[in-house]
Amino acid sequence: MIETKPLLATLRGTRQAVPPVWLMRQAGRYLPEYRALRADKGGFLELATDSVAAAEVTLQPIRRFGFDGAILFSDILMVPWALGQDLWFETGEGPRLAPTLTTRAVLDGLAPRPERLDPVYATVRAVKAALDPATTFLGFAGAPWTVATYMIAGQGSREQAAARRLAYNDPGLMAALVERIVAVTLDYLEGQVAAGVEAVQLFDSWAGSLSPAQFETWVIGPTARIVAGLRARCPDVAIIGFPKGAGGKLPAYARETGIDAIGIDETVDPLWAAASLPATMPVQGNLDPLALIAGGTVLDDAVDRILAAFADRAHVFNLGHGILPDTPIAHVERLLRRVRTTA
Ligand code: CP3
Repeated sequence: MIETKPLLATLRGTRQAVPPVWLMRQAGRYLPEYRALRADKGGFLELATDSVAAAEVTLQPIRRFGFDGAILFSDILMVPWALGQDLWFETGEGPRLAPTLTTRAVLDGLAPRPERLDPVYATVRAVKAALDPATTFLGFAGAPWTVATYMIAGQGSREQAAARRLAYNDPGLMAALVERIVAVTLDYLEGQVAAGVEAVQLFDSWAGSLSPAQFETWVIGPTARIVAGLRARCPDVAIIGFPKGAGGKLPAYARETGIDAIGIDETVDPLWAAASLPATMPVQGNLDPLALIAGGTVLDDAVDRILAAFADRAHVFNLGHGILPDTPIAHVERLLRRVRTTA
């Protein structure tokens, strides 16, 4: 069968004359319609667990911009929540998790709450029913290392120091935690696929903080186990790995994890990536979110450099990290025009 969705076809290895486009965190605070619905629901978790509202948020950027991919509106911290930690969002600060995962007793004391993920599957079904057939539907999860950093610190943390210390001081506990995350993430992604997503992205936002040996152990190893497990359960799903900050470790990640496509952040030279990553592997990225905010010819030039670097391979146009809340809508429109008319 010929794949008619440009994004899904690209993730499966077929280069498109015009690269498909979606943006990480495209469903979010830079959109006035998101901010209105978010204010209406009162809190982030209230919004993410209201399947009707979460489906609406997923579709908002598709309606406005016609992106090639719709990414499920949820959060990577739904997994710690399903593992039994408390989760809340402090206004103006960010997520909080408790109890912090610092001892074996805390890990053993967590009572799994898999039903906390049920609203997410309902969101997927609602989006699936409404999405037009050319748009690829992406699910996601945090990769185990990144999720572990939040579970251990109880919040976002500078340099992920607590998690890195635990990984050295008690690798047995770290491994037990990571394997719990791997197991629930597999169930979670399988559930998303069963409900209707066609591709998934593993966000490893803090992959860049690890030394090479620790990167092998805590990024590549667990990611490879999720990829192998998910392929066994859902052979058709396309898997994107996004190890933010991995830099020179990207080629090893690409070769050793079994992913279908690789996301690269804005610090990576696209010409280096085009030359150094496996020739048949689709690459996703990597516009600097701040170039998008700058707009004008700064934006045009940055877009053109990326398009030129990946002209000969399967490429998904994206940012190098999530879109920022102060991004002007007109700049997103300009970006789409540039990609779709220059390529
Ligand atoms: O891409 C999308 O549009 C889908 C939705 C999505 C959200 N979070 C919604 C969200 C996705 C894919 C994520 C991933 C996520 N969440 C990551 C990995 C990607 C990255 O940015 O590094 C991480 C580390 C988180 C954890 C998280 N969630 C933080 C640190 C915060 C607060 C700060 C911030 O970036 O907003 C959140 C809250 C969150 N998740 C919001 C949204 C739209 C903002 C909540 C609000 O409306 O107040």
